[in-house]
Amino acid sequence: MTSTDPIPSVAAPYAARTIRTFHPRRGRMSGRQVAALEQLWPVYGLHVADAAPIDPVDLFGRRAPLVLEIGSGMGDTTVEMAAADPDRDYLAVEVHTPGIANLLDLVHQRELGNVRIVEGDALDLLDLLPPDSLDAVHIFFPDPWPKSRHHKRRLIQPAHVARLRSRLAVGGTLHCATDWAAYAESMRATLDADPGLVNPHDGYAPRPAHRPVTRFERRALIDGRPIADLIYRRR
Ligand SMILES: C[S@@+](CC[C@H](N)C(=O)[O-])C[C@H]1O[C@@H](n2cnc3c(N)ncnc32)[C@H](O)[C@@H]1O
Repeated sequence: MTSTDPIPSVAAPYAARTIRTFHPRRGRMSGRQVAALEQLWPVYGLHVADAAPIDPVDLFGRRAPLVLEIGSGMGDTTVEMAAADPDRDYLAVEVHTPGIANLLDLVHQRELGNVRIVEGDALDLLDLLPPDSLDAVHIFFPDPWPKSRHHKRRLIQPAHVARLRSRLAVGGTLHCATDWAAYAESMRATLDADPGLVNPHDGYAPRPAHRPVTRFERRALIDGRPIADLIYRRR
C-alpha cells in the first residue's frame, strides 16, 4: 500500500477545492503503518469527504475542551501534547496517508483516548465543526509556499483565518509556529489585522515549553533559521 492508495471508503477527496494549501505527496508505508491503517482507522478515524457534521461530545464520548491540530504530519507533536494534556481532546487533520497511519500507530501504542484523526482538507473540516467549539487551533510548521505565485496556497491568509476564528470559542487560542521568516512576518500581519483576534504578547510569543521539538524545528535550528511562535486569542 502507498500513500496514493485510498483509506477505505474515501469518496473523491479534495475534488471541490481548486487552490489547496497542500501538495499531495507520495510515500511508501511500513508494514506497521499499513496494519495501523487497516486495524485502527475504524476506531480513531473519520473522513472529511463523508461530510457528516461532527459532534465532539459524540466523537470523544465526553465533553472536554477541544484542540484542532491542522497538518499533524507524522503525529509526533499530536501524541506528545495529547499525552501531557489528558483533560483536553485532540482532533488532528492531515492529508498525507503515511502520516495518518503513523499517528494511528502512535495513538494506539500510547493508549490515548483523547485523540481522533481526520483525513482530508482542514478547510473543509471547519465547515463540519460547530461554531465556537474549539479551545485551540494548532498549526505547526505549515507548508511555507515560499514562491510569491504560491502565496495564495498558504493556510494563514485573511479568509482562512476568519473561518478558523469562527470555530474558536471566545478566549480560545490560535497557535502557529514557523521557521520561515517571511511567512512569520506575513502571519503576524494577517493575524494582527483580523478584527476578532488579539495578540496578548508583544509581537511573537515566547516559545512555549508545551510545544514539542519536531524534526522540522531541529533541522531549522541546525540550518540557523529561528522559530517564530504566534499565539493569538479570540476576542
Ligand atoms: C511541513 S508539514 C508539518 C507537519 C507537522 N505539523 C510537524 O510540525 O511536524 C505540513 C503538513 O500540513 C499538511 N497540510 C497542509 N495543508 C493541509 C490542509 N489544508 N489540511 C490538512 N493537512 C494539511 C501537509 O500534508 C503536511 O503534512
